Amino acid sequence: MRIILFGFGIVGQSFAKLLLSRSDDLYTRYGIKPRIVSVIDSKGYVISQTGLDLERLLQIKKNRKSVYEYDYNVTLKGLRDELDIDDLLSLDAECMIDVTPSNLKSGEPSLSYITTAIKHGKNVITANKGPLALAFPSLIELARYNNIMLKFSATVGGGTPILEFAKHCLKGDDIRALRGILNGTTNYILTNMENGLDFNDALNDAKEKGYAEADPSLDIDGYDAAAKLVILANWIMNRKVTMKDVEFSGIRDIKKEEMNKLLKKGYTIKLIAECNDQLAVKPREVLKSDPLCVNGTLNAVTFVSEHSGELTIIGKGAGGMETASAILRDLIEIREDLGKI
Ligand SMILES: NC(=O)c1ccc[n+]([C@@H]2O[C@H](COP(=O)([O-])OP(=O)(O)OC[C@H]3O[C@@H](n4cnc5c(N)ncnc54)[C@H](OP(=O)(O)O)[C@@H]3O)[C@@H](O)[C@H]2O)c1
Repeated sequence: MRIILFGFGIVGQSFAKLLLSRSDDLYTRYGIKPRIVSVIDSKGYVISQTGLDLERLLQIKKNRKSVYEYDYNVTLKGLRDELDIDDLLSLDAECMIDVTPSNLKSGEPSLSYITTAIKHGKNVITANKGPLALAFPSLIELARYNNIMLKFSATVGGGTPILEFAKHCLKGDDIRALRGILNGTTNYILTNMENGLDFNDALNDAKEKGYAEADPSLDIDGYDAAAKLVILANWIMNRKVTMKDVEFSGIRDIKKEEMNKLLKKGYTIKLIAECNDQLAVKPREVLKSDPLCVNGTLNAVTFVSEHSGELTIIGKGAGGMETASAILRDLIEIREDLGKI
């Protein structure tokens, strides 16, 4: 299977390592021989129609260089600014994988990469929430119209199969509502506050441990959880919604004293994303004994279904290898579906 890979950072490199470590198993169990024919990073691109050597590529990134420094069996390479995306996506390949940075304002550059890939008949896997949060209904329609598969398991819950659990394991049931903790950074900060820190100290600790960005606004003001909620609401509950339909607020104003009072009554505060008759992300009081009440960077989602009642799925919400494993799941599904055609 030939793959064009957009982005070669934490997740892109983890995916390359996963392919290297699983290559025999992928072939014997699923009949897949993945071949990455092009990689693009912020500065450059490289194409090798016979397939890029992933070990060499990883070594180049370890030395903090761009993929255009790669020089083994190269068909074409150059600066990203000079790249014609239409030409690149006309390459012979079955799949385009997008692991470029998320942009929740415009969705770019990922939105253009994905739409161009779809128009060129490439199946798409993305770990990037931005385009889906802003344009889920139209992207799904575009993919259907062009008869291609658009997969996005990694966008919600990192490696935890939250979307697949609801879509496949609860098939036939009617999911009436869902609520969840969709952002590990805010959950880590709130857990720290339960342990006695005030908001600023808890945030600084999250930054030191690498869980929060230098500008943590996307997480702590609720944007990231809102984007994931949009994806869940569309995919699991057939709501045709985008970011503008979510009412959201973050955790900046939560006080340690407020948290302490609730803890004494057996409750805590969590940033809860919910889809029922409303679509909202807000700090809520949650019983400490609620299965949703997970600690640290964990994510959890409770689905309220008509016949099976309430079911909660819990797991790590991020991490390079975890996210790469979700991309690999999508790739295997694409391979299986292509095999049926
Ligand atoms: N990390 C996680 O745990 C996790 C979990 C779930 C989802 N995700 C999502 O996965 C995506 C990738 O995350 P990450 O952690 O791997 O990010 P990252 O480490 O920042 O990597 C981003 C990659 O994209 C490249 N890039 C930047 N601008 C580009 C452009 N205009 N065109 C092509 N490539 C470009 C960067 O190039 P350089 O190498 O030159 O900088 C880098 O290789 C994001 O959308 C993120 O939200 C991440």
